[in-house]
Amino acid sequence: MIKKLLQVLDGQSAAVPPVWLMRQAGRYLPEYRATRKQAGGFLDLCFNPELAAEVTLQPIRRFDFDAAIIFADILLLPHALGRNLTFTEGEGPRLNPLRGMKEIESNDAGNRLDQVFESLRRVRKILAPDKALIGFCGAPWTVACYMIDGQGGGGFPETKVFSTEKREEFLYLLDFLADASADYLCRQIEAGADAVQIFDSWAGLATEESFHDFIIAPTRKITALVRKKIPGAKIIGFPRGAGKNYRNYVKQTGIDAVGLDQDVALEQAVELQRDIVVQGNLAPEILTEGGGAMRRAVADILERLGGKPFIFNLGHGISKETPPDHVAELVRLVRGGSQ
Ligand code: CP3
Repeated sequence: MIKKLLQVLDGQSAAVPPVWLMRQAGRYLPEYRATRKQAGGFLDLCFNPELAAEVTLQPIRRFDFDAAIIFADILLLPHALGRNLTFTEGEGPRLNPLRGMKEIESNDAGNRLDQVFESLRRVRKILAPDKALIGFCGAPWTVACYMIDGQGGGGFPETKVFSTEKREEFLYLLDFLADASADYLCRQIEAGADAVQIFDSWAGLATEESFHDFIIAPTRKITALVRKKIPGAKIIGFPRGAGKNYRNYVKQTGIDAVGLDQDVALEQAVELQRDIVVQGNLAPEILTEGGGAMRRAVADILERLGGKPFIFNLGHGISKETPPDHVAELVRLVRGGSQ
C-alpha cells in the first residue's frame, strides 16, 4: 500500500498533506503517562521494546497520523557510548559532562541499542501498511552540546568554551558522532524505519562562522554514509533556529526534506520549497491555545505550502500542556475538516 509520507519525500505533491507531530508520543496523552508509570523511569520505557512500541502506536490510534516516530531519545546514543545518562522528573536529562575525547571508551554504540531496533520491528509488524515509520537521531552538534554541558536549558556555555578553545578536538568529536549516528540510522532503517529524521534542535546556537563546520558538515557526512549503505534512504533534517542558514543547510547537506521551526516566515518557507520538500511549522503554543488562532494559522500554512511537496508538522515538539482535543481538531483541519 502507498505511504503518503514517502510519496511526498519523493518530491510528489499531495492534495491533502501527510501529517505527524514531533514528540507526538508524550506526556500530553493520558495513555502515555499510564504506560510510562508502568515502565518505571523514562529510560526503562525507552529500553522496553513492548512498551516503547505501545507508546509509539498510541498517537496513531488516537489521531490517525500518517506517520509514527519510534519512541526513543536522541540521548540514547551518548548513553550507548558509555556516558552516564539520567532523567529526573521535571528536570530534564543529565549526562556526566564530557571533558575530552579520551573519556569515550566505546565506539560500537550500535551494538548497545538493540532494544530500539526491536521496538522498530514490533511497530512495523502492527502499524498499518499505509503509515510510515520514522526513525531518528540527534545531529552531532546538538548531541555534543548535551554531552559537554551535561544538561540543557542554560545555553550550553561549556560547549561554547570547548568548541573555541579545543576546536580540533571538538571537530573530531562531531566527526566521531557523525559516524556513530550514521550507523545507528542505518540499523534503524534495516529494522523497519521508512525514513529518518536528524534533530539539530540547537542549530540556532552555532555562530555564523561555525555553522558550516558544526552543523552542515557533520550532517552531510551522515547523509553520505547512510546513502552509501542504503541508496535511496529518506532523510529529513531539522536545523531548528537556523534562520537564514536554512538555505545553505538545504543546499549542502543532501537531505530529502527540511523541518522548519516556527520562526521561519511563510515567505521564506515558500522560497525553500522551490528547492526541497518542507515540513512544519505550526508553533506548538498555537496548538496548545487552539480555537480561532489555530484555525487561522493552519489555514495560512496550508494556503502557502499545501498542494506542493509538504508535510504538516509543528515547528518544535508538542508541549505537555496541549489538550489532546486540539490535536484531533488539527488533524481534521489539515484533512479539510471533513474527517
Ligand atoms: O514522539 C516522538 O517524537 C518520539 C520520541 C522522542 C523523544 N525525544 C521522547 C521524549 C524524540 C524524537 C525526542 C527527541 C529529543 N530528545 C530531542 C530533539 C527534539 C527537541 O525536542 O528538541 C531532544 C533535544 C531530546 C533530549 C530530551 N529528552 C530532553 C531535553 C528532554 C526533557 C524535556 C522534556 O520535555 O521533559 C527529554 C525527555 C523526553 N524525551 C520526553 C519524551 C516523551 C519526556 C520525558 C518523560 O516522559 O518524562
